[in-house]
Amino acid sequence: MSGSEREEARRAGGPGGARDVIAIDGGAGTGKTTSAARTAERLGFTYIDSGAVYRAIAVALRAEGILDPDDARVEGAVRSLPIELRPEPGRFRVFLGARELTGELRTPEISRLSSQLAVRPEVRVRVRALLREAAVRGSLVVEGRDIGTVVFPDAVLKVHLHAALPVRAERRQADLRRQGIDMPAGEVSRDLEERDRRDSTRADSPLRQAEGALVLDTSRCS
Ligand code: DC
Repeated sequence: MSGSEREEARRAGGPGGARDVIAIDGGAGTGKTTSAARTAERLGFTYIDSGAVYRAIAVALRAEGILDPDDARVEGAVRSLPIELRPEPGRFRVFLGARELTGELRTPEISRLSSQLAVRPEVRVRVRALLREAAVRGSLVVEGRDIGTVVFPDAVLKVHLHAALPVRAERRQADLRRQGIDMPAGEVSRDLEERDRRDSTRADSPLRQAEGALVLDTSRCS
């Protein structure tokens, strides 16, 4: 990270910065959403799901017929997407133009495509800018993969969540079932492993434990 980018990140959420940020990172199914949303509610902070922004980009590009993450059109399309994080009491919502994106973000196809697109630096730059802009408006709890390491490296609290793969797969399978999607446990597990591998081995801001993070294993938590 360049000096000026680090300064921008500090202003946007470190101690002495404009606002406080709590960063909650970890893989899929480790309990980030539940922990982050409840922490925000208790503290009166605003919650942001950064994964939803990557997913929204995937939905938007897919709608433009871009299904290959290496497509040369990705860079230009990502730059001009009318994607927005709108503050509401308690949480930021993700909009594409006038339309809020919700249920369509959570399909297995969008999980895969968002993780593939998240490898591309131009996608990450756009999401980072949206997240830092949001932090200027108030104190946040942000969940993701690189929140404590890159987006808000001076966050007042960093948490890294783990859980055993079978537990994570079971949670993910239950999430999908609630959306009416029935997927065999083995397939859910393979998708998770593939996403973990991609998200933690990419060159730009891979998923890894931030220095000073509080590490929690949620395998036995409800
Ligand atoms: O948290 P999630 O499963 O909704 O995230 C979907 C994908 O978005 C994830 O597989 C990788 C990417 N992502 C990322 O690269 N960095 C983040 N801070 C959050 C998500």
